[in-house]
Amino acid sequence: MAIETYHIPVMLDECIEALDIKADGIYVDLTMGGGGHTREILNHLGTEGHLYSLDQDPDAVANSPKDDRHTFVASNFRFVRGALRHRGVEGVDGILADLGVSSHHFDAKHRGFSFRGEAPLDMRMNTRAGRTAADIVNTYTNDALSRIFAEYGELETTWKIANCIERARNISPIVTTADLVEAVKPCTPPKDEAKFLTKLFQALRIELNGEMEALKMALEQSLKLLKPGGRLVIMSYHSLEDRLVKNFMRSGNTEGRIEKDFFGRATTPFKVITRKAIVPTEEEVARNPRSRSAKLRVAQKLNTEE
Ligand SMILES: C[S@@+](CC[C@H](N)C(=O)[O-])C[C@H]1O[C@@H](n2cnc3c(N)ncnc32)[C@H](O)[C@@H]1O
Repeated sequence: MAIETYHIPVMLDECIEALDIKADGIYVDLTMGGGGHTREILNHLGTEGHLYSLDQDPDAVANSPKDDRHTFVASNFRFVRGALRHRGVEGVDGILADLGVSSHHFDAKHRGFSFRGEAPLDMRMNTRAGRTAADIVNTYTNDALSRIFAEYGELETTWKIANCIERARNISPIVTTADLVEAVKPCTPPKDEAKFLTKLFQALRIELNGEMEALKMALEQSLKLLKPGGRLVIMSYHSLEDRLVKNFMRSGNTEGRIEKDFFGRATTPFKVITRKAIVPTEEEVARNPRSRSAKLRVAQKLNTEE
């Protein structure tokens, strides 16, 4: 697939402005995907600057710009600090993350991210990982399925959905995306089918790929990686992710617990640059509907001791 059609970068100008790029700085793109943000960061770097881009999806390497100032790291971003340390980098000037999946994941039908058409029920972002979404729907208890559909899909009466799945898998294992769509048919609202299935598939994807846990780990490491004055720029597409990011930027921990100093004054390692999340313009949403749910938050590391 041509690079140009792989993925349209979301809020590209806003992300670049938020990073406040220094020509000789060191930057990290935690989610390279089609490389749209990566390429634009490189356009703003001088000869002394460097960008490290991560992606856990082996397909992404095809989009890695060939540039002496760029290093692609095939890794889950939950290991970002170790991956950079391994390359001799202890501190960086800015970190960008554009979370979730890329258009490529939906377009590559055989990967099983889309409920349209029939494909193995896979959904692994890292195709070398063992477990697939089919393993989840065939082995999780009713309660566990119900919980992930409620938590990650924000669906209602999720016990009914879990019951439908249990009934279907007792007859024969759920193997393909079409098997799952068929299994949940009795509880799919006819008028809202696409919305319902989008949320159902999203919930399974978040669970399978451990997305919340990976984000927590990357945020915690970003605090240690950023140099004072460095920028943290995170774009999320799900309310749980956005809450985590917001809490973290406000407090320096993912629970949003405000620490106090000896005098009872609130302490925080960041200056929050975006009091309210930045969202795409109407024009961008019309041009790229995938940007619809994006929320961009930005913080700057303060000059305090760790
Ligand atoms: C929304 S896309 C990024 C698109 C990119 N900004 C662009 O302009 O093309 C998200 C990418 O992050 C990757 N990704 C998601 N979670 C990840 C994780 N925990 N570690 C590394 N990469 C991850 C996905 O494989 C996907 O390619």
